[in-house]
Amino acid sequence: MTHHENFTSISSTKILSQFNLKLSLFEDKKVWAIGGGKGGVGKSFLCANIAIELAAMGSKVIAIDLDLGGANLHTCLGQKIPEHTLSDYFSKKVLDIKEILTPTDHENLSLISGAQDELAIANLKSSNKNNFLHDLKNLDADYIIFDLGAGTSLNTLDFFISADVGILATLPEPTSIENTYRFLKSCFFRTVQLSENFHKISHLLKKVSQGKITNISMSPVEVLNEIKSIDPQIYDELKVELDKMNYYLVMNQVRSFSEEKLGYSIEKICKKYFGFPVNYLGQISYDPAVWQSIRVKKSLLQRYPNSNSASELKELVTKLYQKELL
Ligand SMILES: Nc1ncnc2c1ncn2[C@@H]1O[C@H](COP(=O)(O)OP(=O)(O)OP(=O)(O)O)[C@@H](O)[C@H]1O
Ligand SMILES: [Mg+2]
Repeated sequence: MTHHENFTSISSTKILSQFNLKLSLFEDKKVWAIGGGKGGVGKSFLCANIAIELAAMGSKVIAIDLDLGGANLHTCLGQKIPEHTLSDYFSKKVLDIKEILTPTDHENLSLISGAQDELAIANLKSSNKNNFLHDLKNLDADYIIFDLGAGTSLNTLDFFISADVGILATLPEPTSIENTYRFLKSCFFRTVQLSENFHKISHLLKKVSQGKITNISMSPVEVLNEIKSIDPQIYDELKVELDKMNYYLVMNQVRSFSEEKLGYSIEKICKKYFGFPVNYLGQISYDPAVWQSIRVKKSLLQRYPNSNSASELKELVTKLYQKELL
């Protein structure tokens, strides 16, 4: 699905209004989502090991595989495919989400495994998504970690922006960085679309984009500035939604110092063009230990806990944990 199709495919704001934007409604738990535009950048690897580390630090954690087309988080966690998966839940074979919760080899860490049957989830409606997000409320956890698929499909965007914390995985390569920007831009427009005032904003958007909401030649900051000059009140209301966007960037598979620094340039560019901050959390080096652990179907932290990448990962988790406690 291309970036354009995401937004043109939505014609009715009524459908959108069925979908609740934020999970920050949960007082007792936090949701972290791992996403990013490109395939194979290390989202599932990061998700699995972030979840393991949070659990090792003493929190109750549930990792959920929401890569609806290519679920493999169980392998990154060193687990076999559990008997029950999200397919059973979305097809209503099981009614209580707790029935698809599977313990892992790690203390404090459970898994909700991804849908193995694409048909069951291909037509996930807003109401399914909404029910799913609300059912998470009943799970006993301090942290829920989403592993998302590649691309900018509406399901992926909605799960990403519903989280309290969005972690973007990227590689120090132009194609991956381009996809990260595209993903962030999609998050911006989707957040605008899902905002309570979209009915008021949509005509403004059409005006500033010469009739097409999908006119993506404008940066989010330019769009916001136009809205502000036309209707400051709507701008203020929208800004409240956008200020909830809480995003961090992880540069994965870093091989040199200059690549590590790239994260700070991306942070600056986002500040300038997006109107919401994307904080550079840090880097994980390219390390054969990562693929070697996956090859034997174990997590990095299980198989090579003393590797360079494992210590970098632990450092990132501690940093994010502390930032989010503040
Ligand atoms: N830091 C790293 N060092 C070396 N290899 C890595 C590193 N991070 C990821 N890899 C390799 O990249 C592969 C892809 O990672 P992963 O499956 O986590 O990507 P993904 O973003 O989840 O992909 P998809 O979008 O297809 O779900 C891994 O199997 C691993 O071999
Ligand atoms: Mg993955």
